[in-house]
Amino acid sequence: MRKLPVIIDTDPGTDDAVALFVAKTLDVNVHTIVSVCGNVNGSYTHKNVVDLNGFLSLDANIIKGADKPLSGSGFTAEEVHGENGIGGVILPEAKDNAGHISQLYDTLIKLGKADIITLGPLTNIAYILREHPEAKENINSITVMGGGFEISNIPNNAEFNFGCDPMAAQIVLFSGIDITIVPLDVTHKVYLTKEELEYICGFEMDKTDNSVVGVMSEIMYYNYKTAIAKQDQGALIHDATAVIQYLYPELFDGVCGTVTVDGYGATTFKEGGNIKVVFNVKRDLVIEKLKFCFTKGH
Ligand code: RIB
Ligand code: CA
Repeated sequence: MRKLPVIIDTDPGTDDAVALFVAKTLDVNVHTIVSVCGNVNGSYTHKNVVDLNGFLSLDANIIKGADKPLSGSGFTAEEVHGENGIGGVILPEAKDNAGHISQLYDTLIKLGKADIITLGPLTNIAYILREHPEAKENINSITVMGGGFEISNIPNNAEFNFGCDPMAAQIVLFSGIDITIVPLDVTHKVYLTKEELEYICGFEMDKTDNSVVGVMSEIMYYNYKTAIAKQDQGALIHDATAVIQYLYPELFDGVCGTVTVDGYGATTFKEGGNIKVVFNVKRDLVIEKLKFCFTKGH
């Protein structure tokens, strides 16, 4: 079981919200959550981080991260996540005591060593590495939801998180830090059908309640509906898959190599290098982990 404090960088986003719920229910040692613009604009992603931290009782320190990328055109994905980023769900409003992005460096120094899980564009991590290259010594590992090798979800064969800020992706991937990439190639294998969602959530679609699990189920179902509308096979909870990979790497397997990122964020992989790219997953066992979260979370 991983024991180091964890910093989650995220752009909620329906699948980010589910990822934070999974992190809470599987007892990830979430020390700090950093917001980043991505799925929706930075004001919404930050509000969602603050409100989810309260609603899920994560009690993490919050840092307000970038509201524009280091590179790229700053596109968003309201068609997938809704105008407010979490499917129109209104959470109880939490008090925003967020710190400035410079506190991310201070946090790494104070902790000595931390694991990072990135669920959005890599803007914040790239910023810290550029401003304080020595901070890499305080980063034990980075688990990155991002990239797509045989699968893309934005134009030019790219994936959303890398495509939002290609330069940031390049900076992080070439940092020499112990990085595991959880790309679309594996997250699309964990698509969830309506029947599987009803099994996991314990609620029929459109018959949820105001409990934590009920609200998280409503967000999952919103993710499902927009995925089906885009002709995907089911709900795509990319970020929750990355959190489960961080906790249970034995449910996945991958290959180490070198990953390059072009100006659009499209990735190429070649064997021989220190970046682990996860390509396969024990899908049924991941579904059981999700079922556990939604059962325990009641
Ligand atoms: O491409 C999928 C990724 O982009 C996920 O993290 C999703 O939340 C969006 O940020
Ligand atoms: Ca995300």
